[in-house]
Amino acid sequence: MFISFEGIDGSGKGTQVTLFLSYLARRGLPYICVREPGGTELGETIREILLAKEEISICPRAELFLFLASRSQLVSEVVLPALREDKVVVADRFIDSSVAYQGAGRKLGMKVVEELNDFATCGLRPDLTYYIDITPETAFQRKHGSDRIESEGLKFLTTVREAYLNLLEQHSNRIVLINGERSVGEIHEEIVRIFENFSGRNK
Ligand code: ADP
Ligand code: TYD
Repeated sequence: MFISFEGIDGSGKGTQVTLFLSYLARRGLPYICVREPGGTELGETIREILLAKEEISICPRAELFLFLASRSQLVSEVVLPALREDKVVVADRFIDSSVAYQGAGRKLGMKVVEELNDFATCGLRPDLTYYIDITPETAFQRKHGSDRIESEGLKFLTTVREAYLNLLEQHSNRIVLINGERSVGEIHEEIVRIFENFSGRNK
């Protein structure tokens, strides 16, 4: 089973991924966790370029292809082999991040980014995606801009959030909305409940 966590910066993905992995471990389910961009040697190198504080000039299209190159390598080197071994694969960001950030945020077009992404991953999509929703205002209260993308500001995150809500409507069979403006524990419990329902149904 392939599960991704999505949301704007500061939505609590990292926190929830960590708790969810502990839950999988307690249940004795074999899993791996991947981080985007990164997760392979190539991906980690690309991550350094993308999140570098010193400005390397990267135009939006180049940025998209860097994310996709990282993802393509991750899918072939890590994700597909783990799924073949029946592991639960947990991804901190996947396709929807590119569609929301590059497609909408960078204005490259959501549809074309979705298509290019499918090319990069040979059509692999998560079975289940948790979209953790918070307002950009809450995000800014939690986190101060610390990398090149976060420093884009409130307007950018507002666009990205709208794109996520749009994706949620389009892919309601796969993406579930999680209200991220609650306590860490409440959110975790809901995530586990949804996972248990989902894995029960797909046995
Ligand atoms: P992300 O990985 O989406 O950027 P993090 O998990 O790193 O988000 O969380 C960003 C910040 O918000 C951290 O300081 C974290 O402790 C805090 N945080 C996470 N979840 C919550 C929550 N439900 N309520 C309040 N603060 C939270
Ligand atoms: P991440 O390390 O997950 O940041 P955070 O924990 O703050 O959410 O992601 C780093 C940044 O990369 C984040 O601002 C989102 C951006 N990003 C894209 O723009 N496109 C993508 O395809 C991915 C995976 C991430």
